[in-house]
Amino acid sequence: MTKRRIRHHVNPMSDRTEVEFEGFTDDKPIIVDVGAASGEFISRLIELKNETHNFVIFEIRKALAKKLVEIFKDYKNVKVFTGDAGRNFKSVLLPCIKSGAKIEEIFINFPDPWFKDRHKKRRFINEKFLDNVSSWIQEDTVWIFQTDQKILFEETLELLKEKGIDKMQFFRVSPYNTQTKWEAAKMETGDKIYRMKFNIIKTNL
Ligand SMILES: C[S@@+](CC[C@H](N)C(=O)[O-])C[C@H]1O[C@@H](n2cnc3c(N)ncnc32)[C@H](O)[C@@H]1O
Repeated sequence: MTKRRIRHHVNPMSDRTEVEFEGFTDDKPIIVDVGAASGEFISRLIELKNETHNFVIFEIRKALAKKLVEIFKDYKNVKVFTGDAGRNFKSVLLPCIKSGAKIEEIFINFPDPWFKDRHKKRRFINEKFLDNVSSWIQEDTVWIFQTDQKILFEETLELLKEKGIDKMQFFRVSPYNTQTKWEAAKMETGDKIYRMKFNIIKTNL
């Protein structure tokens, strides 16, 4: 009999790691990957945009983050942060903005869904996070949210709309010339993928 490995999500609220960052040494635009897992998706983007961009990677699972640090150890333009992306988002990205860089794209690819109502605050895009980030993030930053979880997608969409963010673009096929590991696995089983892009416009919040 084959043993099935059950992997529980890490409760982001239980990880209190706080990181500091002074920003990159240049002001190239920044691409952010939230929950990169083993990094297949961001690796491909780095391959394509290594000369022109800096990259910020967040991963809460220590073992995965350790591997990511190892993979990118020779890249001055890639920074891997271990811990809860939500808790450390501002302390990592605001210094970059202050030093003149643009946060070009933020990828939230197949985040942990946290279905139960009482667990909604563990979702990466939650109300508190949106209220906080809207006060400092650049308005032209493109947020990309992809998931195979219909409920998560619909409820996130609803929350964004409640916050006045309603000019999202929906797309059926990934335009990123690569798939995340999760996406590839889901597509193989024929699952539908839900995708949107949006900007966070401060004045509406
Ligand atoms: C379902 S996997 C998707 C991985 C990858 N983005 C992909 O599409 O293949 C979710 C990943 O996000 C990480 N993660 C979940 N919550 C996080 C958080 N608050 N901060 C940083 N990473 C997180 C998990 O450890 C896991 O590696």
